[in-house]
Parts: sequence; structure tokens; C-alpha cells
Amino acid sequence: MLGIFELSLLLAGIFGNCWFWCSYINRLYSLPIHDRVLDRWRRPAEIAVLLVPGVLLISLLRYQGRPGLSSLASAGADSAAWIHGVWLFPALGLVFFGMRVFSRAVSRRPPGNVRYDFQILDYVARLGRKPIGQGPYAKLAHIPGNQAFSLELNTKRFVFARLPHAFHQFRILHISDLHFSDAIDREYFEQVLYDASQTKPDLVAFTGDLLDDLRLVSWLPATLGKLQAPLGCYYILGNHDWHLADDRIRDSLKQLGWQECQGPAMEIQRGESRIFLAGDERPWMGTAPDLTAVPDSAFRILMSHTPDNIRWARRAGVDLMLSGHNHGGQIKLPGIGAVLAPSRHGVRFADGEFYLPPTTLHVSRGVSGRHPLRLRCRPEISLLQLDCADLV
Ligand SMILES: [Fe+2]
Repeated sequence: MLGIFELSLLLAGIFGNCWFWCSYINRLYSLPIHDRVLDRWRRPAEIAVLLVPGVLLISLLRYQGRPGLSSLASAGADSAAWIHGVWLFPALGLVFFGMRVFSRAVSRRPPGNVRYDFQILDYVARLGRKPIGQGPYAKLAHIPGNQAFSLELNTKRFVFARLPHAFHQFRILHISDLHFSDAIDREYFEQVLYDASQTKPDLVAFTGDLLDDLRLVSWLPATLGKLQAPLGCYYILGNHDWHLADDRIRDSLKQLGWQECQGPAMEIQRGESRIFLAGDERPWMGTAPDLTAVPDSAFRILMSHTPDNIRWARRAGVDLMLSGHNHGGQIKLPGIGAVLAPSRHGVRFADGEFYLPPTTLHVSRGVSGRHPLRLRCRPEISLLQLDCADLV
């Protein structure tokens, strides 16, 4: 039998082991390698999460009754020392978790950032049914408590020192990660994007992961095609689009009047003033945005599917970076938050607002995902209002 101390150690070990292998999976899925390959490389983590707790228990039972450093040394020297060596995974996992807690504690909010308006839109109530389709993983949508059909439409304000006065109260509708796969049916997305269009933005930015099934480009006219903004609708693609034949997606969006945001930064004119908008689809597609024609003092916005490009954005003097990709982790545990996010930063940028001078980073939780499951992590569309620091 284990005492209280050993039991606590075992629970801490199980948690640390899970965190270690989740950290491994997060870094793994940040790589520009096809999911078919990554799914195979995930297997060791799944096996370790299941097997290691048993080995930890055996280790504690073998060690029991031999307290003291000398017995620890002898335990390490015996023929089954590898059993005790398995504690390395939980130990590293607990260190990683400590780093996560620390980074969250010291995380800086962007200047003037406030979420001052939001509404929860319940599409099950509106449609009178769960809008579940026939696509892969559709069964996940039936899980009780799933918030996949309960979208948060919010407004967030950000303040910038070098935003031109003509762009004061500029409103960007930030949409990300639609993931059309027919696990959730078309009517849901039509309703969501209709509601988003009613916010009357100045500009619309879609930050990638549009399709998981190429046949569903047929949904575009009734969904993204309904959005309009006086200064245009812009998009980049994400890793799930990269898995498909992305040229067909780009052609379809072009026909709907959406502008691809890759290569040289695009000029957005308002009155006599201008700001610049660039797109970054790395590491899956394209090259670094070309900002050579952008004046040093100009306000610059970057659309990057993954927040992992934040280091480049800071070096390039980007003022506002818009990202998605991590879906907020899709499942948030009480007191812990997100556990899984396909990022080299783990769950640090799962969702939310961050300030890494000079860059304000907004990471959307996105509208959907390949797996239609959201627990304590609602889908999100954000209207971002940009204010001039000297006018507020
Ligand atoms: Fe995504």
C-alpha cells in the first residue's frame, strides 16, 4: 500500500508525464510535415501516457521501505534502475508546466486592450437542432457540454501610438479556422458569417484553415462570399489548406473578391493616410513577407496563420499581428487552461491578446476545427477596434 506521500508523488508524476508528452505533441504538430506522418510520430506519446503511470507505481512500490539517500543510490544501482529513470519524463513535464505558469504570470497585455462587448450566439437554439453533418469526426459533436455551436462574437479595443489619425476607431473583423469538413453543416457557417457581417467592419481578415475537404469550396459563395467591407476582405491560408490543393482555394476566393495577402505588403488607404497589411503562411507555404517598400514610420499589420512567426514580426516592427491555428486548445481544463496547441511555444499563445513590444498579437480561437469538439473553449469571431493613443 502507498502512503499519502507516495500517492501524492504518483499523482504529480502522472500529471508531469502527461504534460511532458503533450508538450512533445504540441511541438511535433508545429512542424511543416503532413499530418499523416505526424499522426504516426504521435504514437510513442500516446503509449507513454498510458504505460508510464504503471512504471511509476512499480518504481514507488520497489522503493518503499528504503528511505534515505543511501538507499536511493542503491536503488539506482540495482538491475532495474531504468524503472526509476522513468521519473525523468514527469520531472521534465513539471518543469515545463512551471515555465508555463511563469510565462502566463509575466505575460503583458497590449496597451489599452479591453474586451468591452461580447455576445454568445447559440445556434442550436436558433436552428432548433444541432447542425451536425456527415463529415469525419462528426460523432464528436454529440458529446454533452460541447460548445462547438455556441460562438462568442466579441469586440476588443487596442491602442497604438503610431496609428494614423485617419484610422482612429478602425474596425477589423478577424475570422480564423473555419475548417469546412461537413462535420458541422453548411447552415451553421452561413448563420455565423451572416452574424459576423452585421458588425459592419472596415476590413475583414481571415487567417487561414478554410477547408478540410476540397469539395466544400462550393460552400464559399454562401459563407465568406457574403462578407463585405469598404477597405476589402483579405485572407491567408493555413496548414489544413496546404494539405489540399491550395491553388483551387485561392481561385475560388479570388472569384468572390477576396484578396490574397502574400508577398509584398499591401497598402490600405483611408483619407490621406495609409497603413500596410502583409501575410505570412510560413512554415507551410510561401516566404517571409516583403516589407521593403514600407516606410519605417508606417503602421503595419501582419496576418500569420500561426503565432509562431511572432519573432519575425517583432524584428520587422509589426504593430498588430493576427493569428489563429491553435483554436484556444479546444479543451480547457479548470485551473490549467489549454493543454494541446500545435505550436513550438506550446500553449503559451493558444488564444488571446499578448504584447511583445513592439507587436500586439491577437490569437483567435477560430470558428471550428477538424475535430468539432470544444469544452470550456467557445469558437470566436472578433471585431478589433484600433484606436490612436493620442485620441483616447
Ligand atoms: Fe486550424
